[in-house]
Amino acid sequence: MMKKVAVLTSGGDAPGMNAVIRAVVRTALHYGFEAYGVHNGYKGLVENDIVKMDRNDVGQILNRGGTILGSSRLPEFKQKEVRQIAVDNLNKLGIDALVVIGGDGTYRGGMDLNKMGINVIAIPGTIDNDIASTEYTIGFFTALDTAIDAIDKLRDTSFSHRRCTVVEVMGRDCGDLSIYSGIACGAEIVVTKETGFNKDQVIKKVQAAEQMGKRHVIIVVAENITDVSKLAAEIDKKTNYTSRATVLGYIQRGGTPSSFDRILASKMGVRAIELLRQNKGGLAIYTNSMEIGECEISEALKAKDEITDLYSYLPKLN
Ligand code: F6P
Repeated sequence: MMKKVAVLTSGGDAPGMNAVIRAVVRTALHYGFEAYGVHNGYKGLVENDIVKMDRNDVGQILNRGGTILGSSRLPEFKQKEVRQIAVDNLNKLGIDALVVIGGDGTYRGGMDLNKMGINVIAIPGTIDNDIASTEYTIGFFTALDTAIDAIDKLRDTSFSHRRCTVVEVMGRDCGDLSIYSGIACGAEIVVTKETGFNKDQVIKKVQAAEQMGKRHVIIVVAENITDVSKLAAEIDKKTNYTSRATVLGYIQRGGTPSSFDRILASKMGVRAIELLRQNKGGLAIYTNSMEIGECEISEALKAKDEITDLYSYLPKLN
């Protein structure tokens, strides 16, 4: 019997989700499976909003932000009776394999569905980079580039006006977007859940920067830590910098995916189908490859004879 595979995106959208959808659909078709798209995440599974997808349905989306399938959050999916409706809908269509793309909430839903007899593969798609199993999630680096671009612009105006800029970056409970953008933008101070927040210490650091003769100060604050407008107002009062707050917000979730996210998404989408082809389920795909190391310079100068495994992905994605 022909295998039928469905794909959905759930939770906060992330750049690169479309690239995964494309890779999943095209690879499924490459192996002779039928491919289905579920609209609006788990909500679409429950509402039976599931459509058959052809290779052309995923044309022109590799470079597009957002998700063509739509996304949503469905807290009710924690209830077994609600999940049972989803399973029944999949069974009616003869779909026994599902690729879910999203963050931790998506993973939990996928794990529960897997226990109910659907082979589920989870792919990390979230700007937050908060999935423990993977070094990077799809969308993280694109969101990081967006944050960097915005903070660079804030730096220009902060310098001109001799200001302290407090900028709030997304990430839910994970400080990765903040610390990575802080390093990439040369922020003086980064405040995240991991660093902890002590208002007096932050103000002392701003005063120290002033003593050092810095013309401007950039403070990156992860969301859900403190009210950045109030923090800026207090810095304004207690230092000689005028201070302003900027919340980057949802612009971090949109935009065309970066090169890294497109390739990661394509590779992960292909892997998901290859696992389902072996009837494997209940698995989360990860990447773990950006280590820094060192070797003899002579070693570094040897001819590069290894061919990247990316060549094997190309036929499945077309
Ligand atoms: O998970 C992605 C994310 O953008 C988080 O950074 C943020 O905390 C949350 O989603 C916002 O969620 P919503 O789209 O439900 O407002």
